[in-house]
Amino acid sequence: MAVRTNRAVIFDLDGTLTQSEEGIFNCVRHAAETVGAPVPDDAALREYIGPPLAYSFRAFMGLDDETAERAIAAFRKRYHRVGLFENRVYPGIRRLLRTLKARGDYVGVATGKHGDATRRILDHFGLSPFIDSVCCAADGRSEKADIIRGALPESFSEAWMVGDRRFDMEGGRAAGIHTIGALYGYGTAEELEASGAEVLVESVQALIDFLCPGQEPPRGAFLSMEGLDGSGKSTQIALLTDALDRWGFEVVHSREPGGTRVGDMLRAIILDPDNPEITAETEALLYAASRAQHVRELIRPTVAAGRVLLCDRFVDSSVAYQGGGRELGVQHILDLNAAAVDGTLPLATVYLDINHEAALKRRHAATAPDRMEAESDAFFARVEKAYRELIRRDPERFIVVDATQPPEKLGEEVARRVLERLMADERP
Ligand code: TMP
Repeated sequence: MAVRTNRAVIFDLDGTLTQSEEGIFNCVRHAAETVGAPVPDDAALREYIGPPLAYSFRAFMGLDDETAERAIAAFRKRYHRVGLFENRVYPGIRRLLRTLKARGDYVGVATGKHGDATRRILDHFGLSPFIDSVCCAADGRSEKADIIRGALPESFSEAWMVGDRRFDMEGGRAAGIHTIGALYGYGTAEELEASGAEVLVESVQALIDFLCPGQEPPRGAFLSMEGLDGSGKSTQIALLTDALDRWGFEVVHSREPGGTRVGDMLRAIILDPDNPEITAETEALLYAASRAQHVRELIRPTVAAGRVLLCDRFVDSSVAYQGGGRELGVQHILDLNAAAVDGTLPLATVYLDINHEAALKRRHAATAPDRMEAESDAFFARVEKAYRELIRRDPERFIVVDATQPPEKLGEEVARRVLERLMADERP
């Protein structure tokens, strides 16, 4: 644990840590439908972010008092059930909060939202471990300055309020602390400057550069996805990327063979159907060569920069395809890859579990096969068997999921289980 500094940094929630319009828009639409009012378009929906609901439904939707009350009730019901999770952590925010924590700063959240919703959002997105205090409107305070005071520690030598709206800047000034206006949120530069922002930042990265100059980023993570050709990897990678992005993890994609310029050149050689003379040993070494470059040129630097490297296949593919499929042996391929991998293994590996017959059917429905995909069914049966052997040897690392489920449902399971691992790994 870092030595405690005497600095406190307090954040607003909506528009500063999280981008909340999706949930708010969906709940306003739902409220309009419930009371039979016309559903506002996106431009009109923007107006609803910020002001109190009671005001918005009357002023923007033109509802009378009784109908507005019903609209608010419909809004709140949906919001507390699903709307508050229809939210995105701004990219870089996790890295910022982790960096502040590692520095030893005190981190607080001060928001006009209700405490219950705020805490549920922070828990859901795994941000609570980096936050020392949360102060909300319903905690007996309504003025933003009071809420900000409530989020501050008892003593500090320096404190900053970071927010995206006028109330945050005015509140910070009234509480006697420094202010930073976040331009990536919902306010404008004019609004923030006029209300007393001392510093304006265009992006989360600029906020990190300002608050933590020269500070080493926290470690990111390395993830891989594995499965037989036809297991649905591309779809699942896209769905997982979307979920990680929503949680504010900064994803970098890669694949094997490939991932680097030299790796892509090796990939072209390996997969070219016009290279039938490649021997099994040569093939195994070419995959390992691509991997050796990938680990050093891309995987390690990405993780060191605090980002999440999500790789389509890694060493397990060599063990399954060359060790199993080509019958070079599981242990032989592990030994041959030891220098390439050099201890860099994924934090978690998703295995899309589908038997080789089902995978074959899916493959035949797709594009023209490359040199590997054109292999026999017996080959893929051995690949599958070797994957099972790997999972048996390293059950902690693998996340095995039933890949015959509908893609969306499978995507939800993959995201839930991967996020659990990532959030456990980054806890201070
Ligand atoms: P892809 O089609 O999933 O991009 O993978 C390329 C092919 O290469 C696929 O059939 C699996 C195979 N492969 C191996 O045989 N050994 C390996 O080490 C890797 C990474 C892939």
